[in-house]
Amino acid sequence: RITSVALRRVLDSRGNPTVEADVLTESGGFGRAAAPSGASTGEYEAIELPPTEAIAAARRHAVPRLVDEVHAGNQREVDATLRAADGSENFSEIGANSAVAISMAAAKAGADVLGAPLYQHLGGAFRGDNFPTPLGNVIGGGEHAKEATNIQEFLAAPVGAPSVSEAVFANAKVHARASEILDERGVPAAKGDEGAWAPPVSDAEAFEIMGEAVSDVEDELGFEIGFGLDIAASEMFEDGVYHYGDETKTTDEQIDYVAEMVDEYDLVYVEDPLDENDYEGFAELTERVGDRTLICGDDLFVTNVDRLQDGIDVGAANSILIKPNQIGTLTDAFDAVELASRNGMDAVISHRSGETEDATIAHLAVATDAPFIKTGTVQGERTAKLNELIRIADDAV
Ligand code: PGA
Ligand code: ZN
Repeated sequence: RITSVALRRVLDSRGNPTVEADVLTESGGFGRAAAPSGASTGEYEAIELPPTEAIAAARRHAVPRLVDEVHAGNQREVDATLRAADGSENFSEIGANSAVAISMAAAKAGADVLGAPLYQHLGGAFRGDNFPTPLGNVIGGGEHAKEATNIQEFLAAPVGAPSVSEAVFANAKVHARASEILDERGVPAAKGDEGAWAPPVSDAEAFEIMGEAVSDVEDELGFEIGFGLDIAASEMFEDGVYHYGDETKTTDEQIDYVAEMVDEYDLVYVEDPLDENDYEGFAELTERVGDRTLICGDDLFVTNVDRLQDGIDVGAANSILIKPNQIGTLTDAFDAVELASRNGMDAVISHRSGETEDATIAHLAVATDAPFIKTGTVQGERTAKLNELIRIADDAV
């Protein structure tokens, strides 16, 4: 049983405060986890409260219901208790940041009690033994950087890599190669929140640079590396049109543009190509290019089974982004993965632009047999997850 839950404010990678939870159990189990935080957050995400408020509310409502009452190893009961303590639909009382930190810390304490790695505790003995392909953010802008591309993320996708470790290093090479190409072109580049290069270039030029970087590294390493995008189109959508600097695109033009880019660059992955309310637009694009690329809903689904079901009903996408803090608990995240896979959709486990050293999502991706994980390419808060994946593959956690 859980004997204590401690909550504190710690720093995230943007320098903002976030919630960290420590869960202790009667038999000496210990788990610690911290909530990440988004910048291009979806309208329908669970509510992130200011950490001080979230911590005070969780101490008042959730902690007393957990301590001496619930087993850390019983994840569904931990998470149901968090929901009951909160009482709202979207964790607006205790904050999804408190909820997800406690949910993940309890999972780690539960694993610790069993003496099992977290992915094993969460995934069970009969999980598959596949490893996720890391999607590495190489060039980007949007809400993650000033004066850079309109499209939020240009992602390397080393789909042909023979191992997770080779995939991780391939992404780092594409990131390094992109830097050289930017230098050759005389383009200075800062870095965005997730460590991607944030150059002041057009989206068209970013496509070119990314295409070149990917094919150079593909030639060098001898396995297939594709590339993909997170357009984060909700952030560009205003007054019924998509804004690219001074230019705009209508919904039909946006669908044509994305379909053309899929064919021109053989994109293997396109996240949030359209606004978060546009299920029909998503369905039309999926109908057009879904046989050759993943169309993934992030802000569209917000890891929420009800929104996912609406999407399934109209064929809005063939893949879903899973961010535990969008919904508040690991149970909800697992349920979303399960609903997606029952409907033939791929789940992509994801970090946020504001992160900590917490590596829970690496374990979650392995536990759920997810084909992809999105967790950056370089920088400590990103490599925390990538290196943990390498350790899991090496059976060294
Ligand atoms: P966010 O961005 O964490 O700022 O929401 C990541 C994403 O859109 O996938
Ligand atoms: Zn996204």
